[in-house]
Amino acid sequence: MSPMTANQLRQKFLDFFASKQHAIIPSASLVPDNDPTVLFNTAGMQPLVPYLLGEAHPLGRRLANAQKCLRTDDIDEVGDTTHLTFFEMLGNWSLGDYFQQESITWSWEFLTSPQWLNLPPDRLAATVFIGDQHAPFDQEAYQLWQEVGLPAERLAKLGKKDNWWGPAGQTGPCGTDTEIFYWTGSEPAPAAYNPSDKRWVEIWNNVFMSYNKQADGSFQPLAQRNVDTGLGLERVLATLNNQPDIYLNDIFQPAIAYLEQVSGLSYTNNPRPLRIIADHLRASIFLLADEKAITPSNKDQGYVLRRLIRRAVRLAHNWPRSTDEVLVGVAESIIQSMGSAYPELVAKHDFIVNELKKEVTKFQVTLNRGLKELQRLIETGQPISGAETFMLYQSYGFPLEMTKEIARESGRQVDEVGFQSELVKHQELSRTAAAGKFKGGLADDSVATTRLHTAAHLLLQALRQVLGTDVYQRGSNITTERLRFDFSYPDKMTAEQISQVEAIVNQQIALELPVACQEVSLDEARCQGAMGIFDAKYGERVKVYTIGSESPFSQEICGGPHVHNTAELGHFRIIKEESSSAGVRRIKAILE
Ligand code: ALA
Repeated sequence: MSPMTANQLRQKFLDFFASKQHAIIPSASLVPDNDPTVLFNTAGMQPLVPYLLGEAHPLGRRLANAQKCLRTDDIDEVGDTTHLTFFEMLGNWSLGDYFQQESITWSWEFLTSPQWLNLPPDRLAATVFIGDQHAPFDQEAYQLWQEVGLPAERLAKLGKKDNWWGPAGQTGPCGTDTEIFYWTGSEPAPAAYNPSDKRWVEIWNNVFMSYNKQADGSFQPLAQRNVDTGLGLERVLATLNNQPDIYLNDIFQPAIAYLEQVSGLSYTNNPRPLRIIADHLRASIFLLADEKAITPSNKDQGYVLRRLIRRAVRLAHNWPRSTDEVLVGVAESIIQSMGSAYPELVAKHDFIVNELKKEVTKFQVTLNRGLKELQRLIETGQPISGAETFMLYQSYGFPLEMTKEIARESGRQVDEVGFQSELVKHQELSRTAAAGKFKGGLADDSVATTRLHTAAHLLLQALRQVLGTDVYQRGSNITTERLRFDFSYPDKMTAEQISQVEAIVNQQIALELPVACQEVSLDEARCQGAMGIFDAKYGERVKVYTIGSESPFSQEICGGPHVHNTAELGHFRIIKEESSSAGVRRIKAILE
């Protein structure tokens, strides 16, 4: 059987829900309309929030679509077989119309009916909400799954972490959900579903939205009960086609083949750079073609676009073909494979190509100047110092890896530790703020991440108290489950130091310290002794978050958001301390 194409899967989904009286609505822009705190739409429901809250939708109470989404929180994972920045989410919605019965019955029908996806029922499983203080066990979903044909052993009852979805921001519609899993193993599926067996892959999420999360953290019943579902098109396609690699579908295959040809690299032996370029270029052309007309810049969505393109340029900079030819070739290939579903790509073809070329050229001027500078340093015959490596990074956009690679070709060493400490001292504010957004700090503004974000500030201060004031933040990444925090420190922490840090953080939590935000000039921030980066433009105003009132425990320049009081954090625990890179340690911690 020939593999299913992306167009076929998308069309089947939309046809199916049209046959169930759903209006098919176009994808909204990648950029949310009414929410300046979020850079991109990351789920199909986001553009529909007003209607989920009760406003009447002009096309009725049953809707379905394929929504363009962009998530940057997992950007470092892109390059493996499953992660993407841009992706399509297929979804169907009931705005106060049908609820669990129809939602579950139709999902089952679409997945298993020979007329639709024809998946073998004995490879399916589902999870439902187990119940807690906010909402009861989802007895109805549990019952309905058995009525449509799933045996009880293929059902799992799980908690909030697995079977609760939303809100997409700090507040808004949310509720319990049921997730549908498909057995991807080569042998027949085991009789019982086992949540920790990764061969069960999630393919669909049906959210039963009955609550509206308030700013104070409470859950109010929604005026109407909604259904919000989401299937990641590329992941489902890979699953249906039995392909373990998301880049093997018909969208990416021509681009990957082209990249192999122009790079001389083999996808089998060296897939990462090819995947990253294909992914980043696809996201870039969708941003350029977007109705909100995003172009590369140093701010917000434009900055994300710039970083996506520049990363691709760096990966392709020493290939035999010219970089703009390579990038434009990939863009053309994806316009070709996705243009029928997204005519804006075809309509804006010339604009996309021009903007790509402009950005590549602009960046290449910088890259070339940097190469000259590096050449000069190499010719001095000395190792490249931390300050020089940092200068190359800051002024010419040379990542450490690139400087090392070029220096190595001439037999020169690079002072990596020196680079790391320079980086910490100099990171400029605008970059930090925008990088925070780029990493999805604001794209995934849930309460859990906000709490962890505040915990990260406490952690930095506690580390400085225990390990000394040479400790600076080197990076952080927060998901709803945990925080990851990189900081400059040369040695492995001892068990005792780890418990001291935990104890200090937990003490600040127990003290129920207020968290306050103040907008001040950089000079004022400096005078107050706030941690952070002082290289912003003269006159720029920055936000300083202060934890504790009398003599504050922590003061940091930061874009937020944060909790209002450390009492909201719960108990802080370090689950891992490891090396991140030379001179930099990494802590993973949770709040429980
Ligand atoms: N909004 C739900 C999700 O993104 C369907 O998983």
